[in-house]
Amino acid sequence: KKIVILISGRGSNMQAILRAAQSERWPARVAAVISNRADAAGLACAAEYGIPTEIVPSADYPDRAAFDAALRERIDAHAPDLVVLAGFMRILTDAFVLHYSGRMLNIHPSLLPSFVGLATHRQALTAGVRFHGATVHFVTPQLDHGPIVSQAVVPVLPDDTEESLAARVLEQEHVIYPAAVRWFIEDRLSVRDGIVRIVAQDG
Ligand code: GRF
Repeated sequence: KKIVILISGRGSNMQAILRAAQSERWPARVAAVISNRADAAGLACAAEYGIPTEIVPSADYPDRAAFDAALRERIDAHAPDLVVLAGFMRILTDAFVLHYSGRMLNIHPSLLPSFVGLATHRQALTAGVRFHGATVHFVTPQLDHGPIVSQAVVPVLPDDTEESLAARVLEQEHVIYPAAVRWFIEDRLSVRDGIVRIVAQDG
């Protein structure tokens, strides 16, 4: 199986996936890590794992459709079974998303359907929720609304700042995202008509 990972920045979720793939000897390889920003810190980390990296600079394209078309071409050159969005900070066109229907995952730092979009930790603190977390979901055209695969819950503590809460959530992201990717490459995770199916491990 082949995976392509898309990043825009730090790449800690990408790293968690690369680490798990290597240490757990997944029957898959990450064919490429593609960033829309040349300055993404995650690119160096991917290279350390020996993963080919590519840059498709979103700033070089006149509009979303042109960028998405170029990105799609670069992704499809690897013929991946799964596309993993890992801190990829671009809104994707419907055509792009539909092309990868049922084979593109994202992680969002909130318990969806609460707190879509940006600054989710600030949104959670402002709302005064006692629990917060992260969600892995299949990507569909409506931003942060795709079928939910898995979630992790963390408490919101009285003295939390955006930073402390983000760190607590991120630690859980690094657990649930590699697990979900692994289910997919083991053919244990799929989505049909908006319904997610996860098959338990044998034995
Ligand atoms: C994570 O919090 C992820 O949930 C969100 O963006 C952040 C990316 O972090 N989509 P990293 O680049 O994986 O370190």
